[in-house]
Amino acid sequence: MKSYLGIINRYQQYLPVTKNTPVITLNEVNTPLIYAPKLSAELGPNFRVYLKYEGLNPTGSFKDRGMTMAISKAMEKGLKAVICASTGNTSASAAAYAARAGLKCIVVIPEGAIALGKLAQGLIHGAKVIAVRGNFDDALRVVREISQNYKVELVNSINPYRIEGQKTASFEICDFLGLAPDFHCLPVGNAGNITAYWKGYKEYYAYKKIKSLPRMLGFQALGAAPIVKGHPIKNPRTIATAIKIGNPASWEKAEEARDESKGAIKAVSDSQIISAYKFLAQKEGVFVEPASAASVAGLFMLGKEKFFPPIKNKEIKIICTLTGHGLKDPQAALKTIKSPPVVKAQLEAVVKKAGL
Ligand code: F0G
Repeated sequence: MKSYLGIINRYQQYLPVTKNTPVITLNEVNTPLIYAPKLSAELGPNFRVYLKYEGLNPTGSFKDRGMTMAISKAMEKGLKAVICASTGNTSASAAAYAARAGLKCIVVIPEGAIALGKLAQGLIHGAKVIAVRGNFDDALRVVREISQNYKVELVNSINPYRIEGQKTASFEICDFLGLAPDFHCLPVGNAGNITAYWKGYKEYYAYKKIKSLPRMLGFQALGAAPIVKGHPIKNPRTIATAIKIGNPASWEKAEEARDESKGAIKAVSDSQIISAYKFLAQKEGVFVEPASAASVAGLFMLGKEKFFPPIKNKEIKIICTLTGHGLKDPQAALKTIKSPPVVKAQLEAVVKKAGL
């Protein structure tokens, strides 16, 4: 049996790697594209929605795609340390891949604003985790300055190798479907991922692997929606901590993806995010973190707004990227759902409560 050895191995010919690149991999990705029957039915009879479940990566988020590239290239350059700012997932991934590579990893996070699972990951992988009194945008400003003045590689998505790795998600989707989807929905935070997906689709189109391009639909949280509002947000707020970002680094690239693809970037409220979060868990059996549910919240919203033109006899294929696993943020789940009742350890009591 031919074993799967991670994205650099699988998509080598489309990535800036050479024989001299030491490949640091955790056999990331090749994540499933899961058909979502209930979600499709909510939209209408000719919709077919697939979930690109990126929570099934080694560290539980899509960041591993970019990190295998960024850390491998840092090793190739002979660097000894990497640094990033993070709302949690980038730091978890950087810490894991740096541990594997034997590199020092410094992580700067906004104080008190990181989901528990992500904080635990950074710490247990041995990163030097430092919290700053400020938000993600402040943390990113600091690490950018440090990387310009010290011999340490920045592994946020401003690092072009991160985008190169992340673009492979588009390749996987097209390889699986045998064509490009019609629409692609995803959450937007620092805007690296929408940039990467669009780059991937365009490259596959140029290589003649696909005959059309999808329209990109990005969703920000309403309290952290700088691109939608057209100006940076000083104090971003949202339950979706992963995308609580007021001044995205790849702002212009995200607008380019939107405009070139004739797509849209819109805002969804926290209550829309939570209801999509619960829908995914309770109707599709897929547990994601709140930020990831923004893609589905946006899809529901556009469906209600009749954004999608009804095309007779044509199936409309839509992808929703689910960026991170639900176990990253168990507190968000527990805040959303009532705690379990406690009864006597007796058959009658349990049967009564269970409603049997
Ligand atoms: N979803 C999740 C779960 C994320 O962690 C992020 C970003 C996004 C969506 C948005 O992706 O930034 O490429 O637009 N998390 C970064 C981090 C900022 O530090 O982990 P983006």
